[in-house]
This record gives sequence, C-alpha cells and structure tokens, in this order.
Amino acid sequence: RLGKSLVIAIDGPSGSGKSSVAREVARRLGLAYQDTGAMYRALTLVCLESQLDLQNQAAVEALAKRFFFEQWFDPGVGMVSAGIDVEHALDVTEEIRLPRVSEAVSAVATNLGARTELIRRQRAAIESVRGRMVVEGRDITTVVAPQAEVRLLLTASEEARLARRGAQLASSGETQSAADVARQVLARDAKDSTVVEFQRAADGVVTIDSSDLDFEQTVAAVIRLVKENVGG
Ligand code: DC
Repeated sequence: RLGKSLVIAIDGPSGSGKSSVAREVARRLGLAYQDTGAMYRALTLVCLESQLDLQNQAAVEALAKRFFFEQWFDPGVGMVSAGIDVEHALDVTEEIRLPRVSEAVSAVATNLGARTELIRRQRAAIESVRGRMVVEGRDITTVVAPQAEVRLLLTASEEARLARRGAQLASSGETQSAADVARQVLARDAKDSTVVEFQRAADGVVTIDSSDLDFEQTVAAVIRLVKENVGG
C-alpha cells in the first residue's frame, strides 16, 4: 500500500494513552504523526502570552486564523513551534504541557469559531503528507477525518486514566497532587464533552479499551486492527 492514503484516526479522553500509542504506531508503520491537541494547546499558550482574554470568543477566533503553528510530523521528533506570527515563533514543545495551559485550554477547545480554523489546518496537514498519517485527538474519527481508512476510539477506565496522567506529570517534573490532577482531568473532559463526543464511539468506529493493557499490548492491538482493516 506504499503511497496509498492510510489515515489512522484515533480519538479518546485525556489519559487514555492515545498520544504515546499513536506516536508508536506511526513509527512502526512508517507514517507521519499529528497530535491535534498540541494545536489547541499552542493556540491557548499564544493567547495567554498575548494577554488575550480567553472568554473573548471573537478575539480568540481571530488569533486562531493568523497565529503561526508548526508541528514536526516525524513521530521520532514531536517538536512544536508556535507564536503570534512567524517572526515570533518559538519552540513550545515543553511549554504547551504546563498546568497553566492545561487549565485554560478548554476555553479554546469550546470556541467553535477557533475549532473551525484548527480543523481546517489539521485537514491540510493530512493532505500535506498525502494521507499517510496517524492523527490523534477528540474529533478526528467524526469531524476532521471521518473518511479515514482506520477509525479508533481508545478508552480506559477513569482509574487507569488518572493514574497515567499522574505518572506523566510526575515524569515531567510537575509536583501537583494526585487530587489536583484528578480534578483537572475530569473537569477538562466534562467541559470538552459539551462540544465534541469522544466518550462513545460513532458508527463505524472501533473501541479499544486499554484499562487492562500495557503500552506494548495497546500498540499491538491497534496495529492488528490496521492490518485487519487494510490488509497486509
Ligand atoms: O489531548 P490533549 O490533552 O493534548 O488536548 C488538549 C485540549 O484540546 C483538550 O482540552 C481537548 C482539546 N482537543 C479537542 O477539543 N479536539 C481535538 N481534536 C484535540 C484536542
């Protein structure tokens, strides 16, 4: 299937492990990788840095149209750069994961005008690699790429998700309490669910529950599904 479109769309809630799984699947299958959450996070960071009021929907939408954003699609790199424009673009790979961004990002994710613009950019990114890409987020299977060759919802129990998010923050040097992490993750998913459905699989979307799977087993389950769906 070399050269043929192979979009693997993966949605799921925070802490489902979808980012690391999607990246590894892309690496093993020789596909590009797009983390769409990084785009929502980068726009949020640029808003915060420009002291823009996140509740001002029109202003956030206007910035969504003109901010600079670039993501390296090589799954081995995972670098993101962003800024108010190209002259002010910086490497924001680490900064977009900070708690102040996580706490504010729902305001951008629930801004429908901003979403429209980010979705347009995400689709353009898929085209730029002629559809050879693993794309991960909340609305990829339903809105960004409903025509994807493979569509997956990666879920995990609340308990498993909170444990993973906690471990992730700990390894990045964050010192938030487990209770803070839990509160933040659940509040964010609840808020985001008001604009995108990522807790239940849409028609034609296969669910993989990773609660009792380790990383390697989850990656293997996804790859098995890809082979079943597209052959070879
Ligand atoms: O997956 P993440 O935690 O990096 O996502 C960051 C935020 O962006 C989160 O609030 C959900 C939102 N998001 C979204 O609404 N749609 C996407 N396709 C990806 C992320």
